[in-house]
Amino acid sequence: MKISPDKLVEDNQNKEIPFYFNGKLLKAKQGQTIAAALMANGICKFGVSRKLQQPRGLFCANGRCCSCFVSVNGLDHVLSCMTQVEAGANISSNEGDPNVRREVNEN
Ligand code: FES
Repeated sequence: MKISPDKLVEDNQNKEIPFYFNGKLLKAKQGQTIAAALMANGICKFGVSRKLQQPRGLFCANGRCCSCFVSVNGLDHVLSCMTQVEAGANISSNEGDPNVRREVNEN
């Protein structure tokens, strides 16, 4: 039995997967980037800038500007426009830079 590539693409596009953003359960389409999934759920603010605390979100959409940073499963500064959302991922907004001095001093 042969399965056409168009059928496979169609099946994956229609498959919904759950993920969390700041603790809220949301749904994404299989294969969507995190940024696309957030925007499809009406979320445009992905975090704030470190100095002025201004809202940040999708800007270049090709991995060059770093405006779309989010934390994924505890990993800070993930480019949401370049990373596919995974089922059950725990994503949180990026609230400035990590406190590196605190982390170094704790070890
Ligand atoms: S929007 Fe520019 S790097 Fe993601």
